Amino acid sequence: MAMYKGPIPERRVDGPAKRLQQEEQLQQRQEERLGQIGALLLPWYKDHARDLPWRRDADPYRVWISEIMLQQTRVDAVKPYYGRFMAKLPDVAALAQVEEDVLLKLWEGLGYYSRARNLKKAAMQMMEQHGGRVPSSFEELLKLPGIGRYTAGAVASIAYKVPVPAVDGNVLRVISRVLASFKDIALPQTRTWMEGLLKKTMDQEQPGLFNQGLFEVGALVCTRSPDCGACPLAAVCAASKKDLCREIPVKSGKKARRIEERTVLVVRGRETARPGMAGETEDPNPAGTADGREEVMEVVALKKRPPKGLLASLYEFPNIEGKLSLDPESVAARALLSQIIGVAEERVGKISLLGEAEHVFSHVEWHMVGYEIWVEGSLPPTFIWADICKLEGKYPLPSAFLAYRKALSKVK
Ligand code: ADE
Repeated sequence: MAMYKGPIPERRVDGPAKRLQQEEQLQQRQEERLGQIGALLLPWYKDHARDLPWRRDADPYRVWISEIMLQQTRVDAVKPYYGRFMAKLPDVAALAQVEEDVLLKLWEGLGYYSRARNLKKAAMQMMEQHGGRVPSSFEELLKLPGIGRYTAGAVASIAYKVPVPAVDGNVLRVISRVLASFKDIALPQTRTWMEGLLKKTMDQEQPGLFNQGLFEVGALVCTRSPDCGACPLAAVCAASKKDLCREIPVKSGKKARRIEERTVLVVRGRETARPGMAGETEDPNPAGTADGREEVMEVVALKKRPPKGLLASLYEFPNIEGKLSLDPESVAARALLSQIIGVAEERVGKISLLGEAEHVFSHVEWHMVGYEIWVEGSLPPTFIWADICKLEGKYPLPSAFLAYRKALSKVK
């Protein structure tokens, strides 16, 4: 068969080249569009910025801590945590030295406790390698435990005016709409693409205000149901012009959470404390009085979780897998629960049903049932008899158990 020697069909040559050219043109248009937002965003931010405790100065330590907390929960929920944290641990040196239980107590209720542990690890690294300061370069920040591209960008730009973007969920939503982009914001490559565009186009003089302006637009205006009439970026927003704000951003679904059923045991007792007494509790003389009087205190069984995995090193009420459906008055309930706790049946007193509770983690849901069980005397050594008056102040207990902590009427 004769070899074809004619011109190469247009499709073959121009196809990829044309596509590349179109992509370059699209990117140029996107950069032009984003290049306009700084001038609209900065004056608006100056007028509309919320007065938040971590914005009162741009101290790098305060910015860092607040940014990690803000990844956990809403701004209003962060405020009291931030205040307590700063009062107790005002600088890198204090954080580097803090006892783990104290740190976890400050974090109690925020969830993702590994973030708190990483704060301490990063502070220790700052003491060893950065003279006790939060480093200023994006690359150095990225080397620290618990600091990813978002946090490194936020700290470098807000505290040190380094022109790097900080792309969080709010920014992904705002910029996707400004560009009318249908890219899936759940994909890491979408974030990388957006970081590249923003790095080129963001305000170079006031990058911290630019990034915070985007957070603020995302939080106050360009929400799930956006208020385009109040948006400083409406004039350059492609989604708003094309009425696409309901369709954008596109976010692919998360995997369904695994459901775990658990039975939680609020094991209660009474202890008599005397000065000098070494009781079952961690605190050898928690309720003894100076004048030598005996004092009866109410105690509850706690267990420290292992140092790795979900809720690592936090305290918990004894609990087992599966939901036990028991008649609290029955002989069977007494036999089974005494066996689970590891005490003789005759030392088990009143048993009551505390009811059901649920707690949602990122990948797991706990569906729980709770029982209150009164026990006389000591417990096996895996448990601590904790004075219920000290539960709030001393033992970091995950929010998952809060429904059952409420059952302890005397908890202070
Ligand atoms: N969300 C993330 N960072 C924030 C900040 N610094 N202020 C308000 N909201 C935020």
